[in-house]
Amino acid sequence: MKVFIIGAGPGDPELITVKGARLIAECPIVLYTGSLVPAEVLRGASKDARVLDSSGMTLDQIVEILTEARDKDLNVARVHTGDPSIFGSTAEQMRRMNALGIEYEIIPGVSSFSGAAAALGRELTLPELSQTIIITRMEGRTPMPEKEKLAELAKHQATLVLFLSITLVKQLCAELTPIYGADCPVAIVHKATMPDQQILMGTLADIEEKWKASSIRAQAIIIVGRVLTAEDFADSRLYAADFFHKFRKRPRVSEAENV
Ligand SMILES: C[S@@+](CC[C@H](N)C(=O)[O-])C[C@H]1O[C@@H](n2cnc3c(N)ncnc32)[C@H](O)[C@@H]1O
Repeated sequence: MKVFIIGAGPGDPELITVKGARLIAECPIVLYTGSLVPAEVLRGASKDARVLDSSGMTLDQIVEILTEARDKDLNVARVHTGDPSIFGSTAEQMRRMNALGIEYEIIPGVSSFSGAAAALGRELTLPELSQTIIITRMEGRTPMPEKEKLAELAKHQATLVLFLSITLVKQLCAELTPIYGADCPVAIVHKATMPDQQILMGTLADIEEKWKASSIRAQAIIIVGRVLTAEDFADSRLYAADFFHKFRKRPRVSEAENV
């Protein structure tokens, strides 16, 4: 018996991994986070499977289902949104499973921040502009560690990706403007990769107004950084004509002369 902790991807049902989809089809118990995992992702579950939504459950109730499955020797597909390693509340489940001797395996997924970058048609790391992505959130009911307060992280001026922060746009702009500058681009991507996806593009100066005028109040990724609009960034070294490596060897002199 095993619990498969599966990343369902950001929303588009075709963005789950082949392995994740196969395990959902094979497991007799499918326990999914109904608040975010779309129903289409679960369509592949067997007709005989017990398909349960964990969004109304407590951790104890989830663990009870996993323990029952262990006692009956039944595999479980534990389906989480995006990638289970990011704001997934999976660690606490794994800790309980470790204590109970329940075996588990993690099947990674496409995180919603990757889905958001794809929706924007942007790369989040650009040569000489930003080579770092900080994935974080604004402080909510979950307190932020002192060294990870937004103002501290902002000092790096890296590309910032914020989960779980869409109701705090005003505060976000106030904290970031002195560091990133009022003209720094900001994108809000709601329901990335889903049919009703919405994108708001703006700057730290005007994104709050645009957000207030929208109806987006949940399920959104905020991305801050100059990578969102930059066009004058340097080319990478990877494809530079004068850069050679294992897969593109320096031409021999005789070949070079013929070019
Ligand atoms: C509990 S976290 C789960 C994140 C997930 N593990 C991941 O890797 O995307 C939920 C937050 O993820 C973000 N999110 C999840 N799905 C999204 C989507 N399709 N579009 C935009 N944001 C999404 C939102 O910030 C939401 O509040």
